[in-house]
Amino acid sequence: MGVFSNGILVSFMVVAASLALSTTSVNGGNFSQDFEVTFGDGRVNRYGGGQLLSLTLDRDSGSGFRSKKEYLFGRIDMQLKLVAGDSAGTVTAYYLSSEGPTHDEIDFEFLGNVSGQPYTLHTNVFTQGKGDREQQFHLWFDPTKDFHSYSVLWNPQMIIFLVDNVPIRVFKNHEAQGVPFPKSQSMRIYSSLWNADQWATQGGLIKTDWSKAPFTAYYRGFNVNPNHAAATGAFTGGAWQNQELNAWNRRRLRWVQKYYMIYNYCTDLKRFPQGVPVECAHA
Ligand SMILES: *[C@@H]1O[C@H](CO)[C@@H](O)[C@H](O)[C@H]1NC(C)=O
Ligand SMILES: *[C@@H]1O[C@H](CO)[C@@H](O)[C@H](O)[C@H]1NC(C)=O
Repeated sequence: MGVFSNGILVSFMVVAASLALSTTSVNGGNFSQDFEVTFGDGRVNRYGGGQLLSLTLDRDSGSGFRSKKEYLFGRIDMQLKLVAGDSAGTVTAYYLSSEGPTHDEIDFEFLGNVSGQPYTLHTNVFTQGKGDREQQFHLWFDPTKDFHSYSVLWNPQMIIFLVDNVPIRVFKNHEAQGVPFPKSQSMRIYSSLWNADQWATQGGLIKTDWSKAPFTAYYRGFNVNPNHAAATGAFTGGAWQNQELNAWNRRRLRWVQKYYMIYNYCTDLKRFPQGVPVECAHA
C-alpha cells in the first residue's frame, strides 16, 4: 500500500474515530466517586464534578489513581490527553491488574519523548504473573493535542486493545495450547504518571528536563460496559462474550501493525533463540 492510499485510510479512520468518540464521551463515570488516589496526593486533581482528572509529576513525586471496583471482563474506555511538549523521561501508565504474585495484567504505557518526536505506546499482557509479551507502537496522531480513547475489550476468548476504536492488538485465549489466559482474577483499573528516565526515552539516553516540570496528563470519558453490546457493527455483533473482529476491523488491525508497530516480541528471534512463545505461532 502506497503513501497515498495510506493517507486516504488515515482520513477515513479519523472520521470513524471521531464518530465513535462522540458516542462515548458524554456519560463517563465519575472520577470523584469511582477512583481513589494511590500516590502523590495533591498531584491528583478532579474538576467539573469528577468529569475530568489530572495527574502531575514534579521533581518530588509522580501520582496515580485506581478504580474502587474490580472488573472481570467487559469493555473499558478511557480518554487520555498526554503530557505535552518535552515529555522525555516521563511514563504515563494506564492498565488493568489483579493482585498477588500470579496476577494478570493488561497494559498501556505511554513513553514520552522530546518535543516534536513521537510518543511510544508500549503494550503488554501478563498472565499468572508472567509478562514478556511486549508490542510497541507509534500513533497516527499527536496524543498530546487532544483527548483520544484507549480501550480494552476483554472477554473469555480474547483481549482487544483499541485506540480511538481502532484495534491495535489482539491477545487470544490459547489455553488449548497451554498458555494461561486471564479469566478468573478480577482487575482494577490503574493509572500513574512517573519518572522513568533511566529507560523510557530512546533507551534512557534522554533524561527528564525538570525545568519543564510539573508534567500533567488529563483523563476523561471513563466508561465501563460490563455487558458490552454497544458498537454493533464495529465488531461481529452478538453478545460481548463472543465478540471478535469482523473483516473491517481485521483490516484496520493489519494497517496499524504494518505502519505503526515498532516492536513485536513475536518476531524477536534474538530474544527467543529457542523459538518465540507458543501464542505467537497461532497469531
Ligand atoms: C461525582 O461525585 C461527586 C462526589 O460524590 C459529586 O459531588 C458530583 O456531583 C458527581 N458528579 C456528577 C457529574 O454527578
Ligand atoms: C522518540 O523519538 C525517537 C526519534 O524519532 C524515536 O526513535 C523513538 O521511538 C521515540 N520514542 C521513545 C520512547 O524514545
